[in-house]
Order: sequence, then C-alpha cells, then structure tokens
Amino acid sequence: MGKRVLVTELIPQSIKELLEQEVEVETWDSSEQMPRELLLQKIKDKHGFITGKDKIDDELLEAGNQLEVVSNVSVGYDNYDVDAIKRHQILATHTPYVLDETVADLIFGLILSAARRITELDKYVKDGKWQASIDQSLFGHNVHHKKLGIIGLGRIGEKVAKRATLGFEMDVSYYNRSRNDQAEKELGVTYASFQDIITNSDFILLMTPLTKETYHLIDQAAFEQMKKTCFFINASRGAVVDEKALIQALLDKKIAGAGLDVFEKEPIDPKNPLLEMDNVVTLPHIGSATAETRKAMKEFAANNCLQALRGEEPEAVIKELK
Ligand code: DGY
Repeated sequence: MGKRVLVTELIPQSIKELLEQEVEVETWDSSEQMPRELLLQKIKDKHGFITGKDKIDDELLEAGNQLEVVSNVSVGYDNYDVDAIKRHQILATHTPYVLDETVADLIFGLILSAARRITELDKYVKDGKWQASIDQSLFGHNVHHKKLGIIGLGRIGEKVAKRATLGFEMDVSYYNRSRNDQAEKELGVTYASFQDIITNSDFILLMTPLTKETYHLIDQAAFEQMKKTCFFINASRGAVVDEKALIQALLDKKIAGAGLDVFEKEPIDPKNPLLEMDNVVTLPHIGSATAETRKAMKEFAANNCLQALRGEEPEAVIKELK
C-alpha cells in the first residue's frame, strides 16, 4: 500500500499534484486550524504530515504512530516539541532560506512605518484630517545613519543588516549566541553584548527563534533600559517578548514606538491595548506572506516530506535532529 500524507496548510493544486505523483494526499481546505480532535483522528493512518501551526507533541505522535515525517511550512518550528519528536524517532523539517529576503523586506517596512509614522499618517489622510501643512507634532524620525541593534543575527538578520548598511548607511550591531565573523567582514556589522544593544540602539530588531531559553527574553527590565527614542521591532515570535511589559513601556513612554508582525496570542485579541496605539504598527504575521515566497515554502515543505518518505535525507531537517 502507498504512503499517505495529511496537509493542514492550504496548498495550490500544482503542489497537491506534485505530492499525488508519489503519495495519497488528504487536505484540510480551510484557513482555520483543523480542530485538534479531528486532527488526532486524521493523523492515525498517515505517514507524512505537512503543517504550519499544529502542535507536534507526544499526544499527536502517539495518535499518528505510523508517522515518518512532520514537515512545517515555516522556518520557525516552535510548534514542534523537539524532545517528543526525538523520542518518537521521526524526521522533522522546516523551510529556511526561501523566505529570508521577503521577511527582511517586511522588517524594513516595519522600521520605516514606525519611524516615519506611515500607517498612522495614512489614516490621518484617509480620515480627512489633512487640511493644512502638517506641523511638527506629526513629524517622524530618521532611519538612515541611525544605530540598529539586531538580537539574533541568523540568515534573515543578515539580509536586514545588508539593507541597513548598504542602503540606509546605518550603524549595525548584533547580539547572538555565537559570533558571525563572515557577516562582520562582509557587512561591517559589529558584535555587541545584549546589554549594549538594549541600551544604545535607536532601533532594536528581535529575530531570535522562540525556545524555552528565549521565552520573554525582552522583559520589563530590558524596556526600562532602552532609549526613550528607541523603536522596538519584532518579526520573530510574540512570546520572545513579555507583551504586558511592552504595553507598559509604550504607555509609560519608555520607548518611542514599535513595529510588530507577531504577538503572544495570534490572531491578536481585538481588545489588546496595542491596537489603540498610534505609535505601534501592527501586522497579521505576514513576514513571508508574498505569493511567490509562500508558494516556494509550500513546495519546499512538500519536497522535504516526499524525500523523507522515499527514505532520503530531506533537504531541511531541523538542526536538533542532525
Ligand atoms: C516563519 O516561517 O517562521 C515565518 O514566521 C512565517 O511568516
């Protein structure tokens, strides 16, 4: 009997056909998450699982005891319980590289929107408030030649650093668990301590993955030490920041503003105070959401899954399983 794959991400027909050349495919054709109870039923006879948001833990792996591979359509894999995956001895993959430039573009959008008040002033124009030349109460802040501090200089961080140094002539420093000599040489970025980044940056970009160690890495103490003129940008995962502390820092004017693509709870609670703040740009987790890049990610995830089911080493196994 052939192998069976469950897909809970929406995929185009071309990718479904690519999968169907080798396996039997069952799809979930809704952008809502598949209810957990249904997922635990559906996974029972599957050998491969292409997902994006579903929690991969002992419960799911016990229900899906024929699974050979879980394949995430994202680079982040905080939905994976890596210890459970190791215990069940299955493969787990993700989709790095193909989204780096796209996410870096969006991050620059967040930086520019926050500093130059683009979304706020777009609303001002559309609300019919533009009656005369704007006065200085609506002026923004420069981005070029400012100090950008990147916490987590991975592949995406490097692409941001390239845009920042070459395009905006910014002074870029980074904090990482390990130093990136190549980026220092090629992009002219400087290694700095976490403390230095927090206290001296005009823009702080958070790009570390969410793990047990990075949960609430940016907390009240960190916000207390930032410059009052600092803009805080997050395009990694919401829970790397203590969101209550971020809200308080914004209310107390400890920082100038924020550009956020991610939140502790997604979709965001409509009552979240961040939604009331003009100096905060809020996006619905669209870092990689362009037509071209999302298609490339889905194709990558499909190929990772097929390679595993053929008994080959998939192109992008998560680093903990290598
Ligand atoms: C990812 O792939 O982890 C991104 O957050 C998706 O936008």
